[in-house]
Amino acid sequence: MKGKVERLMAEMTPAEKIGQLNLLPAGEGLVTGAAQATTLAQRLDAGQVGAVFGTKSLASARAMQERALAGSRLKIPLFFGEDVIHGHRTIFPLPVALACSWDPSLVEETAAFAAAEAAAEGQHVVFSPMIDVSRDPRWGRVAESPGEDPLLASRIAAAAVRGYQGADIAGPGRVAACLKHFVAYGAPLSGRDYDNASLAWEDLLGIYLPPFAAGCAAGAACVMASFNAVNKVPMHAHAQLIEGWLRGTTGFDGLVLSDYTGVKELIAHGLGPAPVAVARALFAGIDMDMVGEDYLRELPALAKAGIDAADAGVALSAAAIRDLINRSCRRVLTFKDRLGLLDNPFRGLVAAGAVPTRQDGRKLARTAAARSVVLLKNDAVLPLSTGTRVALVGPFARDRRNMLGTWAVSGNSDDVVPLDQAVATLTGRAPKTAWGVNIVEEAWLEQRLNVHGVTVERDGRSEAELVDEALALARQADVIVAAVGEAKEHAGESSSCLSPSLPAPHHHLIAALKATGKPLVVVVFAGRPLALGAIAEAADALLYAWHGGIAGPEGVADILFGAAAPSGRLCVTLPAHPGEVPLSYAEETTGRPNPGHFQKFLTGWLDLPDSAMRYPFGFGLGYGEIRYGLPSLSIAQAAPGEPVVLTIGIENRGPREAIETVQLYASDPVARITRPSRFLIDFQQVTLRAGERREVSFRIDAGQFRYPVAPSLETAEWVRDPGLVRLHVGPNSRDTQSLELTWLA
Ligand code: BGC
Repeated sequence: MKGKVERLMAEMTPAEKIGQLNLLPAGEGLVTGAAQATTLAQRLDAGQVGAVFGTKSLASARAMQERALAGSRLKIPLFFGEDVIHGHRTIFPLPVALACSWDPSLVEETAAFAAAEAAAEGQHVVFSPMIDVSRDPRWGRVAESPGEDPLLASRIAAAAVRGYQGADIAGPGRVAACLKHFVAYGAPLSGRDYDNASLAWEDLLGIYLPPFAAGCAAGAACVMASFNAVNKVPMHAHAQLIEGWLRGTTGFDGLVLSDYTGVKELIAHGLGPAPVAVARALFAGIDMDMVGEDYLRELPALAKAGIDAADAGVALSAAAIRDLINRSCRRVLTFKDRLGLLDNPFRGLVAAGAVPTRQDGRKLARTAAARSVVLLKNDAVLPLSTGTRVALVGPFARDRRNMLGTWAVSGNSDDVVPLDQAVATLTGRAPKTAWGVNIVEEAWLEQRLNVHGVTVERDGRSEAELVDEALALARQADVIVAAVGEAKEHAGESSSCLSPSLPAPHHHLIAALKATGKPLVVVVFAGRPLALGAIAEAADALLYAWHGGIAGPEGVADILFGAAAPSGRLCVTLPAHPGEVPLSYAEETTGRPNPGHFQKFLTGWLDLPDSAMRYPFGFGLGYGEIRYGLPSLSIAQAAPGEPVVLTIGIENRGPREAIETVQLYASDPVARITRPSRFLIDFQQVTLRAGERREVSFRIDAGQFRYPVAPSLETAEWVRDPGLVRLHVGPNSRDTQSLELTWLA
């Protein structure tokens, strides 16, 4: 007996099938009355829409579903999607910030909360998690990324999928996850958004694909393609990677969406005209066409006549095109069936059952914010006592709107408690606050130019006057807290920047504050890793707070005054200078390491002093002191399959509870190709009471040392070298102790 999907497939006309491949934005929704019908309404009436994204309410989604059912001869329902990137209504810290918690269970919890909020508004799929590994702070979308490391990103990807989907994407309060952007979107040339990536296949397999493999293994139901080309083929036409690697190698059997007008963009990529672009995308495995409607326009003719474009190297018969349409339509319907929509088109669209409370959301958002903050420096200034007289200065001292960060499409900045209020509530004492230097005006585009150092004004006052105001306050205080950083529009999509560093006026402000001689705490609110330069030297304490969501400033206040202990660890290396990007702790070995045999030959830069402060991947301080003992291995030589255990004692010498993330790296000194000088293979997070000592053990297995050797994607082999490997264990990627282990053949 045929299942629901096959019964529908047997009855559908080609036009109805093509309609299912069309994914449209809700835009202004359904305009009723005398107003002219929107494109969406016309398409719904004609049965030409498979799904809609960006509806802003349950009522609006329900109205669209009713309209879609009325327009569909076979009563095939829509599904609804939304960009829920770091929370839906309750905005959590940016993904790059949350990744600094190094806590997959927290990622899972925030994803589950976001899923419940989104599901309560009729969403069935979220366009998240974004799992593009990125090592280039110039790229604005690093804000949405899990950072630079494939292992950490993989654990985050799996955790987010578990949080969104639970055991069943049709379960109450759950949604389908959509892994994006497939793939290597985080490695564009020069950090320019949308630019292409030319990579060794080994890099693709070893760095950029693992989070997708992990997300698929966790059961992700959907994947979105990326805008860029990889090794000369735009991802929307990359059959080798989509039908080949994604479906073939990982066994992914869900739905593949285009990105926004991604099919149409094949024409600009130089792979069009439109009929050719459409044939390529469908052949590559792009099941749904988001926004551009090129499938809707081109496929009817292609299904009748096929295509033979010798100049573009595309030849598909009409029957082959119809097979491809069937393949994608079947996937769309199967996805709807998994969502429970074929049984009940209004699933999730009637008044929601258990909607999570905003209060619970605030609590979780505050914990997540505090866990995302990374303490980079602390010369015995923090935590502050509640009696301290604080001068709170800088553009983000009272800011709400930037705290949400980029891609908070359903967030509301009124939900943000700004830093001055958070401090006042926590300490019972309002801090003296000055705006200092402001870069954040509504006309942000203009301001974006200002960040490179020209004059800044606010309320008719010059930069000098603003600095004077800050200084006057600072002089009367015990401690200065300077809240500086980037505006939310300075990071995000289409927001690459040449020089990932703090705006020049912020440097001026910090220099002036430093000159007062008062203890100076600098809090950086940002969407990307910034080179802090002189600011790191000037600060007596330095917190990297990212854009922390609705409770971002409260999380910062908790850390400042010791209501929470800092536990964040960088998921990206912070460069010492903007010119040294792209950058990763996992840099490849070269013939002339630095420092190495030939001291004379520098692998670094002549104009970057050795003393320049770079904060490495995995770095972050706590309050108090964590002592690491000497690590030991259960055996020094092991056969593959034989268990090896690395054990290390850690002790909390501080006066309060601490969360420590013990990180295990490896290196492979004799391999078949150049390898990263070290790479993360495992980590564990432990909570230690004051004075507590614990042994932490890692099970090590030979599989962790496998790496790809890939003259081409198809001939890729995951290999492992018998012989010596090194293990490096410690609190970050730099400050480690090493051990040697030999794998017997
Ligand atoms: C972004 C995607 C997003 C889509 C829909 C695109 O511009 O690249 O990440 O999901 O828009 O809003």
